[in-house]
Amino acid sequence: MQIKDKCALVTGGANGIGFLCVKQLLEHGAKCVVIVDQEKSSGIDAVAKLIKEFGKDRAVFLACDVTSEVEFTANFKRAIEICPELDILVNNAGILNEKRWELMIDVNYRAVVRGTLLALDYMGKHKGGKGGTILNVASITRLNTVEEIPIYSGTKSAVLGFSLGIKSFCEKTGVRILAICPGFTSTSLVSEIQKKCLDFIDEERVSETLPKYPTQPAETVAEAIVELIEKGENGATWVIEGNEPPYAVQIPHYSTFRIPIETLLLHQCLG
Ligand SMILES: NC(=O)c1ccc[n+]([C@@H]2O[C@H](COP(=O)([O-])OP(=O)(O)OC[C@H]3O[C@@H](n4cnc5c(N)ncnc54)[C@H](O)[C@@H]3O)[C@@H](O)[C@H]2O)c1
Repeated sequence: MQIKDKCALVTGGANGIGFLCVKQLLEHGAKCVVIVDQEKSSGIDAVAKLIKEFGKDRAVFLACDVTSEVEFTANFKRAIEICPELDILVNNAGILNEKRWELMIDVNYRAVVRGTLLALDYMGKHKGGKGGTILNVASITRLNTVEEIPIYSGTKSAVLGFSLGIKSFCEKTGVRILAICPGFTSTSLVSEIQKKCLDFIDEERVSETLPKYPTQPAETVAEAIVELIEKGENGATWVIEGNEPPYAVQIPHYSTFRIPIETLLLHQCLG
């Protein structure tokens, strides 16, 4: 897919990976990118910077909490009024806070489902649209559960499971579904992570374990997102970790994990 002259909507595009993704899309010639984010002042600043660099009408900010059905639906409609030819949705907004787990499930999973369904309604060929691309931001915590953040890991599993299911309808909808799994990335999401864990998880354990994961700058993830939009086939799932080049992953069929129950019982007997 050529990004040149395409229109995109990026949730959580006011900061971190989302903002740099918007910037990359504009660098690749996107006609207009709409940022949907709840942080009003960051959103206004972000768009001011982007307009200065790329010109008027190339970036628009809509203040919106994606966990609110009413707000997200109304702002999606506004985005379509601004860019009737919406081609790309990046479901990027996310939080990491195990102490606020219900909100985290709402932002990281429910809003991804809602954004996807809204985009299918507007872009889907089955609804008279011209098709398009949806990219969902998952995480390596889906592929390798990070025990210290089990609820966050669960939300990202849900994002990937949903993406891999809904990709099967691309022929009907004309909408390609992509997913990216970034490794640890230097943004505010992971700062002071010890304080965002459940109370029975030792801060010491978190401080010891998490720094073992390689980190990367947000730019690397933003570049991989844009490359995935350009090159990924429907259902493509890429990992971007440790500032290395991205690679694709395929989730094996569960039968490949088969363990005969007798073997487990034998292990139990042997202690
Ligand atoms: N940083 C990492 O290590 C890492 C790793 C893997 C995946 N991710 C994922 O990447 C995505 C971007 O995260 P980031 O690291 O750039 O974090 P970030 O905190 O820098 O940016 C997240 C953005 O989402 C917005 N947001 C949060 N809740 C919102 C809501 N209810 N409505 C609208 N906007 C909302 C925030 O205002 C912010 O602008 C997230 O989905 C995150 O889970 C991050």
